[in-house]
Amino acid sequence: MLASPLHEPGEAWGTITVPGLWTVGSQTDQPHYTNIAMPFELEPPSVPADNPTGCYRTSFAWAREPGERVVLHVGAAEGVLLVAVNGVAVGASKDSHLAAEFDVTDVLSEGMNEILLKVVKWSDATYLEDQDQWWHAGISRSVFLYRTSRVRIDDLQLVSDYEPSVASGSLAATVTLGGLSIGEVGSTVTMRLSLGHAVELEAAVPGPVPVKADPVVLADRSAPPPPRLPPESQALWSLEASGAPVPEVLRPLVTGRSPFPEQLGRARMHVEGLEIEPWSPEAPTLYDLTVYLRSPAGSVVDQVVVRVGFRRVEISNGDLLINGARVLFQGVNRHDHDPRGGRVIARETIRSELATLKRFNFNAIRTSHYPNDPAFLELCDEFGFYVIAEADIESHAWYTRISDDPLYLTAFVERVSRMVRRDKNHASVVMWSLGNESGYGVNHDAAAGWIRGYDPTRPLHYEGAVSTDWFAGARVSDVVCPMYPALDALRSYSGSPRRERPLVVCEYAYSQGNSTGGLAEYWDLFESLPGLQGGFIWEFKDHGLDPHGDGTIRHGGDFGTVPNDGVVLLNGIADSYGRPRPAMYEARGIFSPVRLVSTAEEAAQGVLRVRNRNSLTSLAAYSLRLDVVSLAGEKHILLETPTVEAGSTVELALPEEAVALLRSASTVAVRLAVAMTKATSWCDAGTEIAVQPLQIRDAIVDMGGAAVDLAPAGEDIIGHDVLVAGPTLSLWRALTDNDGSGQLDGRFIRSGLFRLDRVDRTVERVSPGVVRVTEWLATAFGSPVQHVRRIERLGTSDWRITERVVLADGIDDALRVGVVFELSEGFERVEWFGSGPWENYPDRARFAALGRWESSVDDLQTDYVRPQENGGRGGVVELMLRDASGTTVVTRHAKPVQFSAAHHSTADLEATSHSWLLPRRDTTFVYVDSRHRGVGTAFLGPDTNPRYRVPGGSHEWTWRLSIRD
Ligand code: GAL
Repeated sequence: MLASPLHEPGEAWGTITVPGLWTVGSQTDQPHYTNIAMPFELEPPSVPADNPTGCYRTSFAWAREPGERVVLHVGAAEGVLLVAVNGVAVGASKDSHLAAEFDVTDVLSEGMNEILLKVVKWSDATYLEDQDQWWHAGISRSVFLYRTSRVRIDDLQLVSDYEPSVASGSLAATVTLGGLSIGEVGSTVTMRLSLGHAVELEAAVPGPVPVKADPVVLADRSAPPPPRLPPESQALWSLEASGAPVPEVLRPLVTGRSPFPEQLGRARMHVEGLEIEPWSPEAPTLYDLTVYLRSPAGSVVDQVVVRVGFRRVEISNGDLLINGARVLFQGVNRHDHDPRGGRVIARETIRSELATLKRFNFNAIRTSHYPNDPAFLELCDEFGFYVIAEADIESHAWYTRISDDPLYLTAFVERVSRMVRRDKNHASVVMWSLGNESGYGVNHDAAAGWIRGYDPTRPLHYEGAVSTDWFAGARVSDVVCPMYPALDALRSYSGSPRRERPLVVCEYAYSQGNSTGGLAEYWDLFESLPGLQGGFIWEFKDHGLDPHGDGTIRHGGDFGTVPNDGVVLLNGIADSYGRPRPAMYEARGIFSPVRLVSTAEEAAQGVLRVRNRNSLTSLAAYSLRLDVVSLAGEKHILLETPTVEAGSTVELALPEEAVALLRSASTVAVRLAVAMTKATSWCDAGTEIAVQPLQIRDAIVDMGGAAVDLAPAGEDIIGHDVLVAGPTLSLWRALTDNDGSGQLDGRFIRSGLFRLDRVDRTVERVSPGVVRVTEWLATAFGSPVQHVRRIERLGTSDWRITERVVLADGIDDALRVGVVFELSEGFERVEWFGSGPWENYPDRARFAALGRWESSVDDLQTDYVRPQENGGRGGVVELMLRDASGTTVVTRHAKPVQFSAAHHSTADLEATSHSWLLPRRDTTFVYVDSRHRGVGTAFLGPDTNPRYRVPGGSHEWTWRLSIRD
């Protein structure tokens, strides 16, 4: 490592693994996280003098082969890459997320050779790579040498189209050769497409011909020159081009071709009427295609193998259509991230990430915010995802200052065009994105213009062009792709007479910590309003780093680097290792191909209807199971999968047994479980991909009979050996990232509810077996709270409790209203009848299913790295906690409640910086809330819908607590 590129390497060389980033795993230069801010305070294009520079050298033996050409491929270098071979400088590259290739044929020698790669961390290009992510440096993708023949296929551009009206495909290929010498002719290319049978096309490649200077013809006057041209022959150019009639005399000259040779070294082939299955995420059919290059002597000297999917992307009447059908993007934003490798990510990791997303019914990914590892798109083609491929351009800190700056013009066009050239043949790529958050400048126009010319088959996406006006920016964005929109903004756009372009939300449902509230409400709009076609959740994984590989996840504030944006990179619906968080289960239910659409009334009559949410395919791939749920247990009934076209609704054919159960008064709910019938590349046969819940009737539990008088006067207060602390009022949750967000402006702290001091307390015996305890409390800022508790004794260790809480005037938005109690050591098992099995909160619960669920206390927790409220389950009418000896603490509820149980308290959560530092106490804290605020997405996006907030004023609820030995 050198302190700057101006230093020369000394003698002390260490060993490093490539690919590898020196910012992970070495102490010389730490990973540094900022969202918008640049890591240094300078003006573009200046860079700090202190500029870490990594030198990588390796030696190798090379045996030359006759006629070979040798290319050095550097998959991705983060920073400026400078390449020297055997001491000769061969080139440089500045684009951190695309490969750079160097022709090293002439500098390699027989025997030992040395390659030296220098990577310089900061440059003018750093200002273009100001994405919200870690600043890393090093070599993040593989480096290798490969051989080609001198004349070779340099490029293959395919347009593999599908015409839905006649259900057939066409294929156009442009093959560009490199290495042909002037005058060299006779090469041919053959394209072989395997559709079960082979379709083969062949084309000759015109060789390069030099344009000669015009000779002066009239110098020789020894004899009359023969006439060669009709009069006014030059008029032909403009007459032909303008479509004007061509005079008789000029007709022999009409060729229909330009007088200039345009196809030198390039061959085009085209075939139509192919009998193929189209490609889509719902059925990602791919075909093998090989292009061979034959030398004039007929031998194959090069070949390219690709997998082709046939599909059409078009925008028609304001809708984005794939293969003629309007689709909804059930998308997520994804970075290349690995908690151990930083941005070095193995193909197998990508494969497992994509398999997870498929199993959760995602159908789209935006490569936020740069071209991903090449393995990613291969797998997206294979598994089936719509991809928005995004260029590596984000000038967030300097914005339009950069996107308007001519100094950066070439870099814009280069970054965009290099991505498009690399990724153009992937069926999965359905839109190109010009980058992220760089304002909107003329450099964007230039880059968009290049794509529009090179690849007219795909729409363009660029959020910066519409961010301040959804009706602007059509020059560079064919879709309206805002971030974090309000629901009313979406409604308004859908209804606007000015609406022309489809709207696809590029980022929404911000998932910082315990978040992603309101996802289903967005989807109510996407599925019902014209012009709206879904969006991309922010984002797939947390970007935590795990430097020791022991799960002690670190964020931006943990490496001593300044400035930093701390935990803001922990906003995944999956953790840093890609393990789904509960929000992903809500998405899974919303994105399910099968939607249960019946009302409770219909179901109670024995009728269930489902909608096929696919855009292009039937439901043949899925099997269905109906779980009929009552308080006493559940019945599982296998159903026949209905035949129903994409987008249509059908009534399920139910066996008599199911109809009878639906009509039975004891049935509370059903769950329709959807599973994959066959194994695929991303799941085993039988994998459940969604559950569609429907509550049919209220669940009514036994709240006990009349009070009994067991205790001496005044001693009816709740108590038992296992109650380390009896139920007390609980009005505070450990603030989630959203609760503490700037947008909420200290709202909850201002309420003072984080502390309650008792001011006074009275206990009255109301009647035999019934006491009333009244407490007057004061919040941290002195506002009064009154809590009246009426306790009816139903037996030894059995109480019915009616709570009434009056919050002070001025508190109109609270976090929870409930009680907490603490159980002695050993209460490890939990069972509840309510929503589950995964964590759910009132605004993230539509697809959590009613049932009787079981868990250990530890497994109830969700590991949000910054400790905060978590692990809650709602819709609960019965809760049981058991210890090993069989003692069971049961709570029952006249109206459903939200509960959580943990080996730590709210105070522990608030006092701890990282989840892995949380104390694990022996006792169990149980929180049971009559009301609990939804989680929303206020950190960036809408706050919790008022419907899911906890209002001020008076709250009253009744519950029963029974302890059975
Ligand atoms: C968006 C941006 C994302 C991320 C997010 C905040 O504006 O595009 O990259 O920064 O905000 O976490």
